[in-house]
Amino acid sequence: MNFAVIGSGGREHSICFKLKQSPKIKRLICIPGNAGTREIAENINININNFDEILAVIKKFKIDVVIVGPEEPLVNGIVDFLKNEGIRVLGPDKFSSQLEGSKAFMKNLCKENNIPTARFGIFEDFQSACDFLSKSKTPIVVKADGLAAGKGVSICNSHNEAKIKIKEIIEGKYKSSNKVVLEEFLHGEELSYFVLADDNCYKFFGSAQDHKKVGEGDIGPNTGGMGAYSPSNLITAELELKIKKEIIEPTLKAMKDLGHPYSGFLYAGLMISGGKPYLIEYNIRMGDPECQVLMMRLKSDLVEIADSTTRNNLQKTKIEWSENKSITIVLCAKGYPGKYIKDSEIKNLKDLKIDNDNQVFHAGTYIKDKKILSNGGRVLNITSSAKELIDARKKILTNLDKIKWDDGFYRKDIGWRAIKNENN
Ligand code: AMP
Ligand code: GLY
Repeated sequence: MNFAVIGSGGREHSICFKLKQSPKIKRLICIPGNAGTREIAENINININNFDEILAVIKKFKIDVVIVGPEEPLVNGIVDFLKNEGIRVLGPDKFSSQLEGSKAFMKNLCKENNIPTARFGIFEDFQSACDFLSKSKTPIVVKADGLAAGKGVSICNSHNEAKIKIKEIIEGKYKSSNKVVLEEFLHGEELSYFVLADDNCYKFFGSAQDHKKVGEGDIGPNTGGMGAYSPSNLITAELELKIKKEIIEPTLKAMKDLGHPYSGFLYAGLMISGGKPYLIEYNIRMGDPECQVLMMRLKSDLVEIADSTTRNNLQKTKIEWSENKSITIVLCAKGYPGKYIKDSEIKNLKDLKIDNDNQVFHAGTYIKDKKILSNGGRVLNITSSAKELIDARKKILTNLDKIKWDDGFYRKDIGWRAIKNENN
C-alpha cells in the first residue's frame, strides 16, 4: 500500500519508521518531512496547509491512506477536503477537531456531558473575566480559546498577572480566537492517554507521560515537551476504567450525537488528582514526543491499523504492545523555548547505536551539503526501549554522549518519577 504522512516532526518520523516496518508498505511519502524521514520516505516539500497541492501529490503518487500528524491542518479541515475527493485519511473532521481547536467547545462539551474537568468560565470581554477572577483563588489558569502553538496557557500566581494575560488574549494576541478561558488550577500528576477511533468503535492506543517544563526536576517555562516515557506508571485497571467510562466514552458519544462520530487518534491530557482523572485538554492527534515512545512499543502493523480504521473496520483489528518500556529524550537547540540557535551543524550521528530498541527520530533538522543542520527548537528525539525505564534511559544517555553538538541541550532526568518508583 502507498501511504502519505503529513508533518515534519519527531512524531511524523516515528510514524514513518513504524509504517516502513510493514511488509505491506510499497510507497511512503512525507509532506514535508525532515532529514530523518528522508532516509526512509520520499520527502515532498509542500506547505501542510496547501490542501490543493497536497491533493495533487496524493493523486500523483496513488496514495491509499493519509496520516495527518499535526493539529493545524486538521483544524483547518484537511480531512473533510480529502474525503470529499474520495481519499482515505486517518484523522477527525473539521467539526470534531474543535475538541482541540477551541477550548471553549471542549469545556462546554464536558459541562453538558458531566465529564470531569477543572471548573471554568469563558469570556469575550475583559470586565466579565475580571469579575470571575475576583471570585477565584490563585493559582488560576488563563487559556486562549484557539490554537496557540502550545503558548496559549498561563498558570498565574496573582490576579494581576492573570489580568495581563486576559487582556492580551482579548485584545487579539492569538489570531485563532480572542475568547479567554479561566480555569481552576488542578493539583496532581499528568497522564497522556490515547485512543484510536473509527465511526463504530474505539481502542486503547497507549499511555505515556510527557515532561513539559524545560528544566530538570520539572522547573522553568513550558515547552512542547522535553521527553516522554511509556507506559505511564499511573495507570491501574481501576483508573483506566474511570478514564474510559467518565471521559472517553461520554466524549465519543457526544460527538456521535452531534452528527460527527470522532475518528482518528484522540489524545486525552489528564490530571490525576486523588486517584480521579480530570480532563485538562483534548488533542486530536498523536502527542509529540509521546508518539515516539508509543511507536517503539507498538507490536502490531501500523499499515494494517490505519488501513482498517479508515475503512471503519477497527473492531476487527488487533492492537498489541510490547511489554518493554520506552523513553525518548528531546535534544533541543540552546535558547529553546525562547529564541534559539538555527542552522547549526550536528555531528557524529552516524556513530550512534541504532536498532529496533534504539532510534533517533528527527524533529527540527534538514540536510545541506551532506551535513545535518538544525532548524527548530526541538531537534532530535533520542529514543530507547528496555525492560526497565532506567536501562532505557542509560542507553539514550550513552547515545547522546556520542553526539557532537555544542549548541544543544537536553534533560537527563526524563522519567524521573517512574524511575524513582522502579527503584523502590
Ligand atoms: P493545555 O494546553 O491545556 O494542555 O495546557 C498546557 C499545560 O498547562 C498542561 O499540560 C498542564 O501542565 C497545565 N495546565 C493546563 N490546565 C491546567 C489546570 N487546570 N490545572 C493545572 N495545570 C494545568
Ligand atoms: N506532548 C504534548 C503535545 O503533543 O501536545
